[in-house]
Formats: sequence, C-alpha cells, structure tokens
Amino acid sequence: MPTSAPPVRLAVLVSGSGTNLAALLEAIDRDPAFGAEVVVVGADREDAGGLRRAEDRGIPTLARPLASGDDRGAWEARLRRDIEAHDVGVVVLAGFMRILTATFLDAWPQRVVNTHPSLLPAFRGAHAVEEALAHGVKVTGCTVHLVDEEVDHGPIIAQEPVRVADDDSAASLHERIKDVEHRLLPASVAALCQGLLEVDGRHVRWRTPAPPSRQEHA
Ligand code: GRF
Repeated sequence: MPTSAPPVRLAVLVSGSGTNLAALLEAIDRDPAFGAEVVVVGADREDAGGLRRAEDRGIPTLARPLASGDDRGAWEARLRRDIEAHDVGVVVLAGFMRILTATFLDAWPQRVVNTHPSLLPAFRGAHAVEEALAHGVKVTGCTVHLVDEEVDHGPIIAQEPVRVADDDSAASLHERIKDVEHRLLPASVAALCQGLLEVDGRHVRWRTPAPPSRQEHA
C-alpha cells in the first residue's frame, strides 16, 4: 500500500489581525490532501490578533517583540532558533511586517513564502495599498512569492489583479485584495508543500494542477 508523505510542518508569522492565517487554517481543514499543518504561530508583537486566533485553536504561539535599539541580528537569530525548535519545513509570512535577512532565511532556502498586497514589483514595502491608491492605478492586486533578502522581491508563485474603484479608500481596496489573498496564499502554500512548484531562478512553474484560476475582482 502506498504511504503518503507526512504533512509539512508550517510556521506562520503575523503582525496583524491574522485573517490570512485564518484562511490558511480553514483551507487545511477543508482539504485532507493539503499536505501541511500549522505547528506554531509567531508574531513580532504581543497584541497581534493572529496570536489569539492560534491560541483559540490550541496552536503553540510565540511573541518576539523587537524594540527600537534591540540588536536586530540577535532578534532574528532567536526567532529562527525558536521556530527551528518546532521542526518546521516551511515558513509563511502572513502579514508579518518585519524584514528578515539571511540570519533567518538561510534556515529555509526557497521555503519562506510571503503575501503582499500589490502586483509586484509595483509598490513594495509596508504601504502598498495606500501608494497604489495615491498613484492612481486602475488595477492593483496581490502577489504570493518566495522570500529572498530583498524586500518584496523573491520569485513570484502567484499573482492576481484587483480593480481599483473611483471611490475606493485604502481600507475598502485592501479588503478586496485580502479576499484574493485568502485564496491565493493557501493555494500557493499547498502547491509548495505538495512539491508542485519548480523554481528556476526568478521563475516559478506550477506542475499540474494549474495555478488558481485568474479572476478579476471589481
Ligand atoms: C495582508 O494584506 C498582507 O498582504 C499585508 O498585511 C495584510 C495582513 O492581513 N502584508 P491579515 O493580518 O492577514 O488580516
């Protein structure tokens, strides 16, 4: 009888409300073939809503705040050690608002995934939605990518457009982008964990099944 591979052990890092974490957990619950389980949720702030969501589900959490003046390298090294202690295979940045360098990333080469609320390479950084709106673009969207040492830069796993409405606020536009992230991030993590992604330099190719369907969200 063929034996199936054990689920990939995921760490999810959050800074905010954790709706992307919730979407990932729901997708894992829904799909017995997802191929992953969340074994720890970390945050850079004690009050991150994502930590409460994890606690509610009995998932171990760790809060590692970084105060100004703290040694960043030491903070990253500790975060890495704390996550490694959970024997994690893939790290998902789901609204984690800290830059991670090789000190952390070297532990999981091509195995750290981020979701970003713009169509990269446009509007990198922490204010992507506000900047897209201020620039007057008609279409923005979201990008799920592998993390490298440059901010919002690594090989792109999936992207999907979202139309900007004339009367959008940053909040209304971000909500529609998040609706897409909630589908694209779990699909991308599942593909990575199931070995369906081939990474060739900047290019990520999906083996069958194809990437999640592309739709425009008005
Ligand atoms: C997402 O839009 C993510 O792309 C951005 O922060 C947001 C996090 O939302 N970096 P949530 O905490 O998952 O609700």
